[in-house]
Amino acid sequence: SPNLSTCHSTSSETFQLPNRSTHVVNCCPASPDSGKPVIDFQFPSPSTSPLRIRRPAHRLALDEEYLAKYNKAVAMMKQLPSDHPHSFHRQAQIHCLYCNGAYYQAANSAAATNAPFMVHNSWLFFPFHRFYVYFHERILGKLIGDDTFALPYWNYDSPDGMPIPDIYMKGELHDEKRDGRHLPPAPVAIDYSTSPDNFDSSNETAAEQIAANLALLYHHMVSGATKPELFMGCRLRPGEDGACSGTGTIEAAPHNTVHMWVGNIEMPEYEDMGTLYAAARDTVFYAHHANLHRLWVLWRQLNGYDKSQPEFDDPQWLDSHFYFYDENADLVRVKVRDAIDMDRLRYAYEEVDLPWLDARP
Ligand code: C2O
Repeated sequence: SPNLSTCHSTSSETFQLPNRSTHVVNCCPASPDSGKPVIDFQFPSPSTSPLRIRRPAHRLALDEEYLAKYNKAVAMMKQLPSDHPHSFHRQAQIHCLYCNGAYYQAANSAAATNAPFMVHNSWLFFPFHRFYVYFHERILGKLIGDDTFALPYWNYDSPDGMPIPDIYMKGELHDEKRDGRHLPPAPVAIDYSTSPDNFDSSNETAAEQIAANLALLYHHMVSGATKPELFMGCRLRPGEDGACSGTGTIEAAPHNTVHMWVGNIEMPEYEDMGTLYAAARDTVFYAHHANLHRLWVLWRQLNGYDKSQPEFDDPQWLDSHFYFYDENADLVRVKVRDAIDMDRLRYAYEEVDLPWLDARP
């Protein structure tokens, strides 16, 4: 768990190419969070918190009422003073804080002192990002006074949903810093590689790319993800230097590959989406993560998990915690164990076909 009083400048990293080019980043809030009152997370009450339904982003292009709300909420976030915990700036900085290692671990053992706290490349990946999106969504809803507001998900596991969704190409949701070769209608390349000799996957036709995407999804959801360690990522222990050996299948792809594919390779560190410190400045980040967490829910269903059954029955995982500001601007401590049962968090995903399930090579 992070020690909030240790926020410090740190070094940037891209998602796939550690040390390609980095600079010093300082994402600590101007007025430190340490010392502020912290409350323990409470599940929203089903009687007062309506269920929020996340829908596929590519099917929302004609829903003007929804788009007006979503754009308005993001505009309001952008207008808040940058130090407000609900501001778009602070929301994006959360990624930099937790993913670039701006905190050291809380010293629950001598070994943990001075090891950075990081949430990528391990079993912390899914729980951390689930809460990140959860609070972001509730804050957006609060700003426009709509407690049914739900973020869309980028349904790139269906052929129609593979391009960057049109709604992210305009208004408040647009971001200039994206790869110009990868704008709609190009389907996303889930097998994207940023290795220096293979920067561009445009040697594949759209139909070939779609088939390659579905086959890779089958592998990362089914045949290559037969155990929780493979799917969720390795068991990071306190004191370990932010990494253990083994990224989960979905974190590797589509997670990392979609980040790199959207980010602009003409920017020094593939900003925005391709680098940890800037990724959440692109609104499509939240739709990307909403979909990743949908894939987590689907994997649990495919593998017969009960709703509240954790993947790892290990207190070192279940009691790890993170801090977020909630929609009331209270600083909340959430534990991994609170991330397991989506139903208790009062959101759900509109169901769509799963073409990758039939894409067994
Ligand atoms: Cu912390 Cu998509 O990343």
